[in-house]
Amino acid sequence: MRKPLIVGNWKMNKDIKEGVDLVKAIVNSKIDQEKIDYGFAPPFVSIYEIKKYLNEKHILAAQNMFYEDSGAYTGEVSADMLISAGCNFVILGHSERRHIFGETDDMINKKVIQALNKGLNVILCVGELLSEREAQCEEETVLRQISLGLKGVDNSMIEKVVIAYEPVWAIGTGKTASKDDAEKMHKSIRNHIAKLYDEDKAKNIRIMYGGSVKPENIKELMSSEEIDGALVGGASLKAESFIQILKYYE
Ligand code: 13P
Repeated sequence: MRKPLIVGNWKMNKDIKEGVDLVKAIVNSKIDQEKIDYGFAPPFVSIYEIKKYLNEKHILAAQNMFYEDSGAYTGEVSADMLISAGCNFVILGHSERRHIFGETDDMINKKVIQALNKGLNVILCVGELLSEREAQCEEETVLRQISLGLKGVDNSMIEKVVIAYEPVWAIGTGKTASKDDAEKMHKSIRNHIAKLYDEDKAKNIRIMYGGSVKPENIKELMSSEEIDGALVGGASLKAESFIQILKYYE
């Protein structure tokens, strides 16, 4: 049985105080952690402070990291630093990292390997551009991103990986993939994991959906057996909407 997983990706929003206030409101709203795993991906500067308001079951994810241990890499943050600040997860390969900051599949793969070697759980984001969907190569794109992102990730390491399918055209646009579209892609991803690893790993890996998830569509998305959770951007920035999303099970 795959436990649902919902994470709020704040992107470059919220200073430390705003972040703490948001986390406190959500943690106090009594989300049932037996029913779902949930947590936050705040900007780097807030991680250490936010950890103080979370328990061991919460997910505290960084939005990125660098693949080297330490050294002359101005502006970068290492896996060890994230762990020392309290992170248990890191989001890698987000489309904004790929398309605004030019991250390649090769760089993302190095980050995935480093994060897993250091003991972090990884949320590996994949997703096609609108032009790729229009050219009907969305599946090819996503499966390629997965193969390249997971190069060198062995059978034991894959258990610490969650895939987030985030079609780029659905991010921050208000356009959500239909449940059927998301479900179809999630099935292809799961079959691909079975090919790369085995049936058991494919059955157990969690595949989240991201892209304009909101209180109005979460129930429908989560009603699919293929959709194991959500990576939420805009709607995770307000306590009211994120709580409604987290309590989709009620
Ligand atoms: P939105 O929910 O704002 O569309 O963002 C999705 C996302 O990119 C989460 O990582």
